[in-house]
Amino acid sequence: MRFTLNGQPVESRAPALTRLLDVLREEFGLTGTKEGCGEGECGACSVLLDGLVVNACLVPIAQVVGSAVVTIEGLTGAGALQRAFVAEVGAQCGICTPGMVVAASVLPPGASRDDMRRALAGNLCRCTGYEAIYRAIEAAGRGTPEADR
Ligand code: FES
Ligand code: FES
Repeated sequence: MRFTLNGQPVESRAPALTRLLDVLREEFGLTGTKEGCGEGECGACSVLLDGLVVNACLVPIAQVVGSAVVTIEGLTGAGALQRAFVAEVGAQCGICTPGMVVAASVLPPGASRDDMRRALAGNLCRCTGYEAIYRAIEAAGRGTPEADR
């Protein structure tokens, strides 16, 4: 099954119903994408599929054939966002952080707090209380990680 992974054409030989999450971590060694619940509830496994945020634990690999997948490792220009998460203490245990950064990456410039809440509604964090995460997104460039592009 062929698809594009972080801008490169790749082929997976995994069985069709293998979770995208497992293909990313075990076949391609992209362990930035985390498994939390494994049931589509926590968002730790968030990746971009043709530009949309999806839970990689719910997507069978057969569904990504011909599509473009972007993981935290391939997220263009996310450096400012990642540094802001550190500076604002938006990452504590860190399990949720890659998924948070992926989900936040689709926010437009100047995103409001309500925009952020909606964008991160599917991403659970038990450590930070979210305020630090929202501050980090604001600090990174008014809701966009493009500041360091
Ligand atoms: S591990 Fe995929 S949503 Fe929780
Ligand atoms: S930093 Fe631990 S779950 Fe978010």
